[in-house]
Amino acid sequence: MATLGVNIDHIATLRQARREDEPSPLEAAKIVEKAGAHGITVHLREDRRHIQDADVIALRKKVKTRLNLEMAATEEMIRFALKVKPDQVTLVPEKRQELTTEGGLNLRVAPERFEKAIDRLQGNGIPVSLFINPDSQMIKLSAWFGATFIEIHTGEYCLAFRKKGSAAGELEAVSAGAKLAKEIGLRVHGGHGLTYENVIPIAAIPEMEDLNIGHNLIARASMVGLERAVKDMLALLQKAKQGRKK
Ligand code: PXP
Repeated sequence: MATLGVNIDHIATLRQARREDEPSPLEAAKIVEKAGAHGITVHLREDRRHIQDADVIALRKKVKTRLNLEMAATEEMIRFALKVKPDQVTLVPEKRQELTTEGGLNLRVAPERFEKAIDRLQGNGIPVSLFINPDSQMIKLSAWFGATFIEIHTGEYCLAFRKKGSAAGELEAVSAGAKLAKEIGLRVHGGHGLTYENVIPIAAIPEMEDLNIGHNLIARASMVGLERAVKDMLALLQKAKQGRKK
């Protein structure tokens, strides 16, 4: 079975909307682990739009499963990761204006940057995953650079699934990429855009060890948890009514 890493960035997005202290990513991580997930993923973006440095530090102390830190391959982030020591780093491309990570890393541009980042992190006991499209050249470069894992970007598959209801070609690309990666010594993760509707064919790929899921899972949590939240508030109003004169 593929394991599940839950990306809890959106919990921090909600908190940052008010700059208050709730909802707390740390509390969310505890619930996610209690529910049986195998890992917690957070993306510390350069603009700190959701997860903050202090969140990662607090999560490092409390996460019992596996803390996967997504980050850009910048000097600032590498130093931070070396200090905090997550269980795994996933290097991702990052653009200031994007809503979410768009596309995988282009390892052909400034390849020495990735090689050095991998050497420094893995040399200090932090295995590195590279977030890439299911492209044979990117997969071979990942192995050449010595990364432990790749995370195959499943976004194209998810997009095709939503548009056409079937995404056989894109699924085949992810599947072939996973096979090639395993053959050349990489361990394979996947993620981006996965939902309750489209996850099964991806999870069924034999080489797929772990899936990172965020948006759709947190969106569902907000819906399935809403009924309980309303009932809890109504119960308080009811309690107050009993203390009122009329
Ligand atoms: N994997 C990576 C590398 C990501 O950047 C993201 C989004 O933060 C995810 C997985 C999760 O994607 P989604 O939120 O669409 O499930």
